Amino acid sequence: MMKQFANIAETKAAIGSLIYEGMTIGFVPTMGALHDGHLTLIRRAKLENDMVVCSIFVNPTQFNNKDDLFKYPRNIANDARMLEANGCGILFAPEVAEMYPNGEKELLNLKFGKLDKVMEGKFRPGHFQGVATIVNKLFEIVKPVKAYFGKKDFQQLAIIREMVKQLNSKVEIVGCETVREPDGFAMSSRNMQLTIAERQLAPIIFKVLQQVKQKAGVRPVKDLKSWAIRQFGQHPELRVEYFEICHRDSLMPLDNWRSKDQAVALVAVFIGDVRLIDNLELFS
Ligand code: PAF
Repeated sequence: MMKQFANIAETKAAIGSLIYEGMTIGFVPTMGALHDGHLTLIRRAKLENDMVVCSIFVNPTQFNNKDDLFKYPRNIANDARMLEANGCGILFAPEVAEMYPNGEKELLNLKFGKLDKVMEGKFRPGHFQGVATIVNKLFEIVKPVKAYFGKKDFQQLAIIREMVKQLNSKVEIVGCETVREPDGFAMSSRNMQLTIAERQLAPIIFKVLQQVKQKAGVRPVKDLKSWAIRQFGQHPELRVEYFEICHRDSLMPLDNWRSKDQAVALVAVFIGDVRLIDNLELFS
């Protein structure tokens, strides 16, 4: 039976005795509204560790838009059932006051240099300080050997790797491939906010990324970027916030194909009111 806790002290005690018995903990932090992308992380964690811990916490400090926080889907009873069926042993699902007893101003404030200034960092100011703060708090409670994150949040993964480096943390960060619907649309908790008509448009995101991958290394970077933006522009319901071709580690925009083996294309698009992100490594 999966155990569920909302309280930090109880969670620490339960995990502490497992670690004392010599068990390794694999951790999957989430904000709930789980889909097969999350469950793939849970199943992988189950294969590679003695015990899987999952957290569900809609972290207010990473939302720069209060309406987005309010609208974020929540369905904990259903999530708990799916977690248990996929091998999760402990679910930690705290309230906001438990994680931020001193209020939401209490942030880790690491220096990420340019990594948190571009793309998501540019359009969602403060987002990554919120992510780093909560992930670090969760790591301190769960004490995992390995923690699993999806590559769909490519920049988040880079930020977390950098956080672990700066804090000298021993947690091994495992980046896992994006899980897609049969039509290529990347799975995300936000997808359920799309109307039926909007959902029908969504596969264009991955289609454009794939076409960019085919043309990468041939057409100049700048031309390829504007070509991609024009493809989205053909649909009035879509609004591109950014489309970038970057180095996969530094996330700095590329202006030529010299480091083409490390190139990744990243996009944020609004379909109606729903903001969606996706990415594709161009030469892997
Ligand atoms: O990717 C997410 O769901 C969140 O950003 C995370 C890592 C759980 C932190 O709140």
